[in-house]
Amino acid sequence: MRVRYLNIGDPIAFGFETPGHLIHAVERALHDGHNGYGPSAGLASAREAVAAEHTAHGWPIDPDRVLITAGTSEGIELALTALLDADSEVLVPMPTYPLYTAVVAKLGARSLYYRTDPERGWTPDLDHLAAIVTPATRALVIIDPNNPTGATYPASVRRALLEFAEGHGLAILADEVYADLGYEGPVSPLGGFNPDAPVISFSSLSKAYLAPGWRTGWMAIGRSPALDDVAGAIRKLADGRLCSTVPMQYAVTAALTGDRSHQQRFRAALKTRATLTGDSLRAMAGVSCMTPTAGFYAMPKVALPPGRTDEDYVLGLLRATGVLCVYGSGFGLPPSEGYLRIVFLASPDELVEIYRLMSEFNADFLR
Ligand SMILES: Cc1ncc(COP(=O)(O)O)c(C=O)c1O
Repeated sequence: MRVRYLNIGDPIAFGFETPGHLIHAVERALHDGHNGYGPSAGLASAREAVAAEHTAHGWPIDPDRVLITAGTSEGIELALTALLDADSEVLVPMPTYPLYTAVVAKLGARSLYYRTDPERGWTPDLDHLAAIVTPATRALVIIDPNNPTGATYPASVRRALLEFAEGHGLAILADEVYADLGYEGPVSPLGGFNPDAPVISFSSLSKAYLAPGWRTGWMAIGRSPALDDVAGAIRKLADGRLCSTVPMQYAVTAALTGDRSHQQRFRAALKTRATLTGDSLRAMAGVSCMTPTAGFYAMPKVALPPGRTDEDYVLGLLRATGVLCVYGSGFGLPPSEGYLRIVFLASPDELVEIYRLMSEFNADFLR
């Protein structure tokens, strides 16, 4: 049986192509001999491009507060390592992107899951945040646009999150890797709502620039003096790993200063798939799903029979149909709630077939 992989968010695996001008920028760098170590914080041209990008979107950033990293992932790891010690806690959304909880566990610190509410477009539950924060809490992770839910947060929620974090003296880790993939256009940086708030933002070439295998991204640290020590610690940690891949850093400048028409096409392709996904899933008995507003993930809920878990559903679906998605408990949700995450990057025709297979399986499994 053919396995239909709906489990990994890699657009290249589904035929989307890295823009030619980024490939040329890397090729040119390789041929021009930029193959030695580079500055550990990143090439000045790439850092300036990141700073200019945020500044143009209303979040003034100094290039000295930018680091080029091995994807969003390395930035997240550097920031958490700099911020946390073994007694600290971090507020992480539920469901979450699992890297956060993995790094927090590795550091011996503790993740506190805060609820995001499927009934309110998967937005963070501020009352729950207020109920679980403690004096040991150091940081608030915000993933907006969100993986795995496909949500984007309204301005009122973004402002309330900033106020909450500032009120409790928390650093804000803003995962903005899907910011350019809002279907109605790019989502502005969280830091723009208050440039003095202690925001550290992460992004990369992986998603909106279609080059995940290059492992190239960036982090920007807001100007708040509350982040000066953390910025210093992050720079030291970055010194220790020498530098991120040098030829690819030339693509950061090309990406942020060059043609972005590929993003318009990509957003339109994603919106078509998101609508098809939301409509098809809601048409199935026992399934609910918010239509995503950004990115390429959806998080439906299936009404599980008593005693069954989300893992039972996902493994049953895989065995019966070859369709592979990820169970919600992999993102921190309770296994009995019946959530799963679907990557909807496949072609619309393929998605129609996938949702037909799911519907057939449901008729048997959800009975
Ligand atoms: C929310 C989120 N953050 C970070 C990453 C890691 O991305 P990168 O390839 O930039 O390390 C991903 C990848 O799926 C993601 O979904």
